[in-house]
Amino acid sequence: MYLLEVVASAPGKVILFGEHFVVYGEPAVVMAIDKRAYVLAESRKDRRIYINSKNLGISGIFVGESFEPKKGGREARMKLEPIRKAAQKVLNLAERKIGISIEVRSAIPIAVGLGSSAAVVTATATAVSKLLSANLSKKDIFRIAYEAEQIVHGTPSGIDPTISTYGGTLLFSQDKGFEPLEVKGDIPLVIGDTHIERSTGEQVAIVRERKKQYPSIFDPIVEAGGKISLQAVKALERGDLQELGELMNINQALLSAVGVSNESLERLIYAARKAGALGAKLTGGGGGGCIIALSPPEKLEQVAEAIEQAGGTAFIARKTSEGARVEN
Ligand code: PMV
Repeated sequence: MYLLEVVASAPGKVILFGEHFVVYGEPAVVMAIDKRAYVLAESRKDRRIYINSKNLGISGIFVGESFEPKKGGREARMKLEPIRKAAQKVLNLAERKIGISIEVRSAIPIAVGLGSSAAVVTATATAVSKLLSANLSKKDIFRIAYEAEQIVHGTPSGIDPTISTYGGTLLFSQDKGFEPLEVKGDIPLVIGDTHIERSTGEQVAIVRERKKQYPSIFDPIVEAGGKISLQAVKALERGDLQELGELMNINQALLSAVGVSNESLERLIYAARKAGALGAKLTGGGGGGCIIALSPPEKLEQVAEAIEQAGGTAFIARKTSEGARVEN
């Protein structure tokens, strides 16, 4: 008996510490947040893959290697390709010769470093796996999401599909994989969105170029970035918000040094700190996208308001232990 439709979801994330330095082998700390992408997968009698992304306002049908746009023109193809790739990989593994209709709805802001694209492909792989009774493990789901994501990112470290698959708070490194972290108490965060879309691949390239130009200056910065993550692991275990805030500020200074901060990000960061945040930094690729501000619980609202007044959009985020899951 095969299912006719399945809904699955996967969380977005914030990188608390160590973005960019993670590309050079240092550890990063990443936390899943309570904003999720939802994917509805239905089986079709033909062999086509139809994808409709409500958030992006695009849709189209993949028939073998060709693409028929329905909404959003021919550019829709590139944006939908990772979703198709994830679905196709599960179809191949399950050795099923059917088609699939996929509908995406996501509560994660797009292209601002909160892991929306990874959450969508992870939820897609989870939904299609359940639909086809493919019984894939979390490791399989991660691998499929990682490969589908390679279309979007230049040099992906795999941090986004990992956190989206497993949830929780993780210490992540490229060679050693990930380790779930103990976190005492809440991590009260305000996320501030600059609304500047940027490409993670470009930001990674900026750092790579500068590092090549000034290796003896950059190497210790990268190493210090890794040390911040390791120090943060201990502060998370103790639930020491004061120290975590200080570490965020130091981390931000390093990100600024390697060239991925800018005026819009700094404006929101300083507004948050002035309004009582314990620490604030950009999160993810930088060059735009989002900041995170660690705030005492009683100051969350006032920090959020200060970020809005400085021209950003603010929302409060909580950690979630729930990775990718089937909803129905
Ligand atoms: O911007 P995001 O959320 O995709 O995060 C990128 C994190 C980097 O360390 C800059 C790149 C990577 O692949 O790890």
